[in-house]
Amino acid sequence: MAEEAILGFLQNNEKITDSGQFSSECNLDHNEVVNVIKSLHGFRYIDVEDIKKERWVLTDEGKKYAAEGSPEVQLFLAVPEEGSISKDELQKKLAPSVFKIGCSQAGKNKWVEMGKQVSRKVQHVEDKVKGLLLQIQEGKEIDIDSITSLKARKLIAPQIWKGYSVKKGPNYAPERKKVATDLTRENLQNWKELEFKEYNFNAKGAPLEAGHLHALLKVRKQFKDIFVQMGFEEMPTNNFVESSFWNFDALFQPQQHPARDSHDTFFLKAPSTTRTLPEDYVERVKRVHESGGYGSRGYNYDWKREEANKNLLRTHTTAVSSRMLYALAQKPFEPKKYFSIDRVFRNEAVDRTHLAEFHQVEGLICDRGLTLGHLIGVLNDFFSRLGMTKLRFKPAYNPYTEPSMEIFGYHESLGKWVEIGNSGMFRPEMLLPMGLPEDVQVIAWGLSLERPTMILYGIDNIRDLFGHKVDLDLIKRNPICRIGI
Ligand code: PHE
Repeated sequence: MAEEAILGFLQNNEKITDSGQFSSECNLDHNEVVNVIKSLHGFRYIDVEDIKKERWVLTDEGKKYAAEGSPEVQLFLAVPEEGSISKDELQKKLAPSVFKIGCSQAGKNKWVEMGKQVSRKVQHVEDKVKGLLLQIQEGKEIDIDSITSLKARKLIAPQIWKGYSVKKGPNYAPERKKVATDLTRENLQNWKELEFKEYNFNAKGAPLEAGHLHALLKVRKQFKDIFVQMGFEEMPTNNFVESSFWNFDALFQPQQHPARDSHDTFFLKAPSTTRTLPEDYVERVKRVHESGGYGSRGYNYDWKREEANKNLLRTHTTAVSSRMLYALAQKPFEPKKYFSIDRVFRNEAVDRTHLAEFHQVEGLICDRGLTLGHLIGVLNDFFSRLGMTKLRFKPAYNPYTEPSMEIFGYHESLGKWVEIGNSGMFRPEMLLPMGLPEDVQVIAWGLSLERPTMILYGIDNIRDLFGHKVDLDLIKRNPICRIGI
């Protein structure tokens, strides 16, 4: 409708001078006219020029008086034609604001005599204010003095009005031509008869409906790349269910250790026990726990096979490392660098920073003659690739490493030291029963994947990162991960 009106008008006239006026003359909604103007302009049917006008519109108070009459007239009409009315009586007849404003305006206009009693001073009044307000509502111009006084009474306010003046454009036609927009089979067959819409190279492409990687996966990829660049091989981490033997016993973690309690670990009901373990190795592990060997005194307790058989959800990926090192020890020795990044499970109370399942990043190097110096060197190399160049180490305790060190890194953007991992050299009590040569050492470290991800993506509640409360939109909007310098 608006389109016909505009193109039709331009067929016989040179110009639409004001889209606002044009709209009201044609009884069209100005917004609709503006939309059509923009679209016709896009196809160059018309040329346009912006018009900006400051115009006056009624405030809420102004709109009320335009409908109900000005307070002064309302007050005047509430005063009897003959005689008088008491001020209290008059007040009861009117809304409080109408009474208040009405009194002052009607007094100023000398329409009424104000005292204890109120009476009319003139017979008849005209509601000029209402008349002016109605004129403004209809978009008519009024004189400057009236504007000033209505503005002072806050009954009108200025508003910027935007419209257009419109002329024929280079592609003008009295009717819009249907242009072909798609390269369909039919359109291509009839291409001679058709006019194709020009390409708009400035148009934004349609958003791609594609999969989006979760932030943890993006960070995991970065960690993986760093390990691969440093020459590490990935360990197979596909079994979440592990026996206590590989998760704890093989790591020289005594059977009465609190981590082996069901308060800390999820044990499996079915199948509750593992089927097979390498028997001669189990025997050596039992011996080292009970009475030591290899220069160790052991723990001096009664080691129970049933405890080692219990299945659990692995509490750390070091369980995978113990399997891999055992497998390595069964062949002629070869130095190895291994890493893994996968899920682990702990029976933890869930809060802003803890989940019952999370991901561990784990690295280890197995070679002859490794020392704590090598471990510190490798950690410096590894973490500097993550953008952490300042590291500090704090002595710590793990049943399977000696010495053990907690790793702290100086976080430049947080401006503080944050704990970033745990590390150590695997104990002879762990390595020698496996059958590794005596001069082989293993240096290893582990960290969570969640913590660096939260720091990188500015997430302060772990439940926003992982689990059923994750916001899918957040995943779509996540930028790519850039770790490092
Ligand atoms: N397994 C340790 C943990 O769960 C991390 C670690 C790995 C520590 C390797 C030392 C050596 O936190």
